[in-house]
Amino acid sequence: MLSDKFGRRIDYLRLSVTDRCNLRCTYCMSEDMNFLPRQQILSLEEIYQVAAAFVELGIRKIRLTGGEPLIRRDILKLVEAVAKLPDLQELTMTTNGTMLPEMATSLKSAGVSRLNISIDSLQPQRFKQLTRVGELDQVIAGIEAAIDAGFKRVKLNAVILDGFNQDEVVDLAQYAISNGLDISFIEEMPLGDISSHQRQNTQISSQHIKDQLISRFNLLESTDKTGGPSRYMRVADSPSRIGFISPISDNFCASCNRVRLTAEGRLLLCLGNEHSVDLRAIIRAYPSDTAPLKAAIINAMQIKPERHHFDPQRTDIVRFMNMSGG
Ligand code: 5AD
Ligand code: SF4
Repeated sequence: MLSDKFGRRIDYLRLSVTDRCNLRCTYCMSEDMNFLPRQQILSLEEIYQVAAAFVELGIRKIRLTGGEPLIRRDILKLVEAVAKLPDLQELTMTTNGTMLPEMATSLKSAGVSRLNISIDSLQPQRFKQLTRVGELDQVIAGIEAAIDAGFKRVKLNAVILDGFNQDEVVDLAQYAISNGLDISFIEEMPLGDISSHQRQNTQISSQHIKDQLISRFNLLESTDKTGGPSRYMRVADSPSRIGFISPISDNFCASCNRVRLTAEGRLLLCLGNEHSVDLRAIIRAYPSDTAPLKAAIINAMQIKPERHHFDPQRTDIVRFMNMSGG
């Protein structure tokens, strides 16, 4: 079992399969992003090799992320292979939903059991503004395709920015409830220097979002956990849950159970710190021996920081979210 020097058990790996995305969300990317050259990205075989090593070391849940994971060529082959790893209990994915109309059914058959779909606005104009290029219809069709494909639980993720979509919290929750979905509201994190707005002006706390929701819905406290940082409330007379991911206002690091692998094979021990280990160098130096890889993973746990210190006034972390693995 993997554990760090603060006694936290690490059983959850978030794997970024590409830093590229077909959207350009303003809080996630700058307008003119430079993406990694292809040879710097792990091949699908290399990603599989790392995933297999992690599962042998006790990882039980893997989430595939990006960028947008569904634009990586042959992603379904990777999904199929990773889903078959003995001892892996759950394979999930975070996606922007744009590719789901074509891919939801095959993704489900390939072995992804749960999906998180990002949607920050239900107004087409505004959705385009927030994503710079996105079509809301496409994502709504993607959500419907995911429901039809029979995923176990579909969860929506909405990053709420004051001045952009703070007035849509109730509508987004109502949309989730009407469709029997879960939804999590996320506080914006200062990851990467962005061009569209000043993050200190858009910050809005989970408590503020919760207050808006409580005035409209009958929300019940809940101890539900899905292995991530969301704290959930149940909606009375509904299967839906409403989650709050509060990296700024409510530090959840004490119960952190996860690490991330970037698309270029850097193992990130914490989203809010730069501590990392270059696993790509190791697998390329020892392509047919997994012992050095496993040793590096075990050792890396020792440099996992105790907590993050996000300050919306300052961008200490120059990595953008698409580099970190959502
Ligand atoms: N702060 C908070 N959430 C972010 N995401 C991307 N960038 C940021 C940021 N700076 C979200 C996406 C997606 C999830 C993987 O992370 O909207 O829902
Ligand atoms: Fe793409 Fe997700 Fe970043 Fe938006 S938040 S640009 S969908 S990776």
